[in-house]
Amino acid sequence: MQSDEPTVNPSQPPHSPSRLRAIRSFVLREGRLTSAQERAFAELWPRFGLDWRADQQLDFADLFDNARPVVLEIGFGNGESLAQMAAQDPERNWLGIEVHRPGVGHLLLEIERLGLTNLRVIRHDAVEVLTHSIPASSLDAVQLFFPDPWPKRKHHKRRILSPELVGLLSRTIRPGGIFHAATDWEPYAEQMLEILESARETFVNTAGPGHYAPRPESRPLTKFEQRGERLGHPVHDLVYRRL
Ligand SMILES: C[S@@+](CC[C@H](N)C(=O)[O-])C[C@H]1O[C@@H](n2cnc3c(N)ncnc32)[C@H](O)[C@@H]1O
Repeated sequence: MQSDEPTVNPSQPPHSPSRLRAIRSFVLREGRLTSAQERAFAELWPRFGLDWRADQQLDFADLFDNARPVVLEIGFGNGESLAQMAAQDPERNWLGIEVHRPGVGHLLLEIERLGLTNLRVIRHDAVEVLTHSIPASSLDAVQLFFPDPWPKRKHHKRRILSPELVGLLSRTIRPGGIFHAATDWEPYAEQMLEILESARETFVNTAGPGHYAPRPESRPLTKFEQRGERLGHPVHDLVYRRL
């Protein structure tokens, strides 16, 4: 059974802050890879995947071999909507971060199928990647579509959109860049709005203070959005510009 309390790392001294592992926004359920996904990891990962290291700052010009603007997607799921967006917008570079291995395998296959050259993938906790590896003001946009809603009150601390994440986004999104979140879980949408509105020193709501944004044409229907629609959940988009 999973505990939702931080895990103690006994190799650290008792009062060291790093003794407590941060509460994570995901629970890793590995799931089986299909044989196509196994092949994708063997053949496509070396070209499109990036092995993450905490001591390494990313150099996007080197990673993509050009200096185009970079869009980051946090938690892309199976990556179908991310691949579609990268295909529709070849003038920008796209970086997807996801922890779920079969989802990463699925995206690698989409990259191959669509012949994309402007998309790279990291399989790791996006919060750690943002904390350690993304240079200041280096992102043109960040998108967070249908993050796990963690509906039970005792799990709310696992929700990825928090004041801490907004701090990381303030540091890494360039002035004038965009943060776009979407959710079909109404109480989470309200909490997102509250957190983002209170970051008004760094982010301005493109829809006006306290308002949800109209659904942008650029966002394809994701798997989780389709599920939300079937369940009759209204979808809310939040689009903020970095000051
Ligand atoms: C509910 S799914 C939504 C997937 C996709 N965005 C969509 O709309 O279909 C949330 C995804 O976020 C991923 N995730 C959660 N926390 C994450 C983190 N800290 N870093 C990377 N991925 C994360 C989960 O593994 C899961 O695939």
